Amino acid sequence: MSRGVLVTGASRGIGRAVATAFAARGDRIAVHYGHRAADAEETLKALPGEGHVLIGGDLADPEAARKIADAAEAGLGGVDVLVNNAAVATSPETAHPVAGVSYADWQRIWRRTVDVNLLGAANLSYCVARHLIGRGVPGRIVNIGSRGAFKGEPDHPAYGASKAALHALGQSLAVSLAPHGISVTSVAPGFTATERVAARIDDDLRAQSPFGRVGTPEEVAAAVVYLASAEATWASGAILDLNGASHLRM
Ligand SMILES: NC(=O)c1ccc[n+]([C@@H]2O[C@H](COP(=O)([O-])OP(=O)(O)OC[C@H]3O[C@@H](n4cnc5c(N)ncnc54)[C@H](OP(=O)(O)O)[C@@H]3O)[C@@H](O)[C@H]2O)c1
Repeated sequence: MSRGVLVTGASRGIGRAVATAFAARGDRIAVHYGHRAADAEETLKALPGEGHVLIGGDLADPEAARKIADAAEAGLGGVDVLVNNAAVATSPETAHPVAGVSYADWQRIWRRTVDVNLLGAANLSYCVARHLIGRGVPGRIVNIGSRGAFKGEPDHPAYGASKAALHALGQSLAVSLAPHGISVTSVAPGFTATERVAARIDDDLRAQSPFGRVGTPEEVAAAVVYLASAEATWASGAILDLNGASHLRM
C-alpha cells in the first residue's frame, strides 16, 4: 500500500537517498528542502512513481515547520511516515571548538543548531503526530541522529548535543505515541559518503571502520525504510547504530 512520506532535507545526501528508497517501494514523497530548491527539484524529478510533492521551508522557524507539515498532509493526502533528516551538520563553517571560537559565534552556532536539529524535528513531530491522531491512523517517525551523540564531537559540540537530544526526544515520543499506534525510532549513522563530506573522506576516516570504508546514503536509507515498516513496530524506541562497527556502545 502506498504511504505518504515526508522527508526533510531531501535536496541531497541522505535525505535524497531516503526519499528515493521510499518512492522505489511505491510510496508518495514530500521532498522537503531548506534553500537548495534546484537540487530538491532534481530529487523530485528522479523519483520513481507518482504523487510526489516539493515543499520548502526553514525548520528553525516554528511557524514554517507547521506549514511544512500542513502542506505535506494536504499534498500527499496524509503523511503516514515522517523522516526527520534535515540538520545543520558538521562543516568548517559550523565548527566551534571552545578554544577557537568567539563567544558570539559560540552562541550563534549553538542557537541555530538547536533550532534546526532539535526544535525543528520536535515541532514537525508534534504537527505530523497530531494529524495522525486526528485521522485515527497509525504512523511512523524516524529520526536521523548521529554516532557523534555517543562518540563526541569536539569541534562541533552543539551538533553532538543536538543529536543526543534528538535520540532522547525519539525515545520519549516512542512511549507517549505508542497508544496512538505511532512508532518512533532513530538511526545513528557514522561517517556517510554524501556530497557535503565527499572532499573530507580520506584513509584515516575509512580506517575508523574495520570494514575499511565509510557508509553510503543507501545503507542509511535501507535502515530507515525498515524502521518505518509495519514489521518494525516492535523496534519503537530504538536507536540503531549504522557505523560499520566504528564505534561500539556498551
Ligand atoms: N553524512 C554523514 O556523514 C552523516 C553522519 C551522521 C549523521 N548524519 C545526519 O544525516 C542527515 C543528513 O546528512 P547529509 O550529510 O545528507 O547532510 P546535507 O547534505 O548537509 O543535507 C542536509 C539537509 O538538511 C537541510 N537543512 C539544513 N538546514 C535546514 C533548515 N534550517 N531548514 C530546512 N532544511 C534544512 C538541507 O536543505 P538545503 O540544502 O535545501 O538547505 C539539506 O537538504 C543529517 O541529519 C546529518 O546530521 C550525516
